[in-house]
Amino acid sequence: MAHDMNYRNLGLEIAHITESAAVAASRWVGRGDKNAGDGSAVDAMRKSFNTLDIDGVVMIGEGEKDDAPMLFKGERLGTGRGPAMDVAIDPVEGTSLLAKGRPNSIATISLAPQGTMFDPGPAFYMQKLAVQHEARDVVDLDMPIPDLLRKVARALGKDIRELTVFVLEKPRHENISREIFQAGARVQSHTDGDVAGALLAVTPESGVDLMLGTGGTPEGVLAATAVKVLGGQILGRLDPQSDEERKSVLDAGMDISRVYTVDDLVTSDDVYFAATGITQGFLPGVKIEGHRITTTSVLMRGRNKTVRYIEAHHAFGKFGKELPVS
Ligand code: FBP
Repeated sequence: MAHDMNYRNLGLEIAHITESAAVAASRWVGRGDKNAGDGSAVDAMRKSFNTLDIDGVVMIGEGEKDDAPMLFKGERLGTGRGPAMDVAIDPVEGTSLLAKGRPNSIATISLAPQGTMFDPGPAFYMQKLAVQHEARDVVDLDMPIPDLLRKVARALGKDIRELTVFVLEKPRHENISREIFQAGARVQSHTDGDVAGALLAVTPESGVDLMLGTGGTPEGVLAATAVKVLGGQILGRLDPQSDEERKSVLDAGMDISRVYTVDDLVTSDDVYFAATGITQGFLPGVKIEGHRITTTSVLMRGRNKTVRYIEAHHAFGKFGKELPVS
């Protein structure tokens, strides 16, 4: 019974893992060293996972794209007792945001029953579109942007001029942004962090109505678990950014023309998603004041579609003496 998925809410249990990673990474906010921040968070996550009663296997261990510190794909996590789960992990999503002290870097994890998460294999990049529930049936990755914006605006009961589209600020997205401007909608551009982008796009009243553009495939799968709980849609198509990536993807037998929906990226509804803010952003960042550390996390459970926000106050020293640095 103790390991029955109906009974346990792993979402609550994984909160302490993202909290510990966020606190560990927070030492490195604005210190220009993204690998040090990522490394601290990876170590904290690996350590906290050891106490979780699951038989977890890392399906998404972000970091391969840029040789960052990481939890390795196939690495086993948890005590080995309990449900068999695929684990997607991004100890610091937005390592440059953290290094530069910019908003929206988060520590995040998702879980799904083993065999139900899309395996990105060697596909680093994916073209993505994320949108909230009301517009989930009108979107299409191949639709010209003006038509897409018109349809989304209509589905959301808005004028096209009231739409805001989250776009990563990358040279590859210049055309997308130009077309959005020309269609009369707004762009909200961010240098990094499209997991946050997808979460904002699928959350009503977040100020973002849609996310468009190419980002990490692992981030697409991670975001998909949250999009699923929030009832939105995320469409993705592999979008290799170099000849080498393209070759590896094709050699692995992956289909670069296929459009994946949220239900393809995570086939089970029995998913969990947790994220803790590192820098201030759509989630408040880690605050260290005197002898108190405050973290804010969002926890989602697919089974009941519950979304919880948890503000936690931690005793100084709980995360190790050396952690809080002023
Ligand atoms: P990191 O946390 O690995 O630095 O990823 C940040 C990020 O902006 C993701 O949110 C996004 O999916 C991806 O990088 C985009 O990749 P790139 O910066 O190479 O275009």
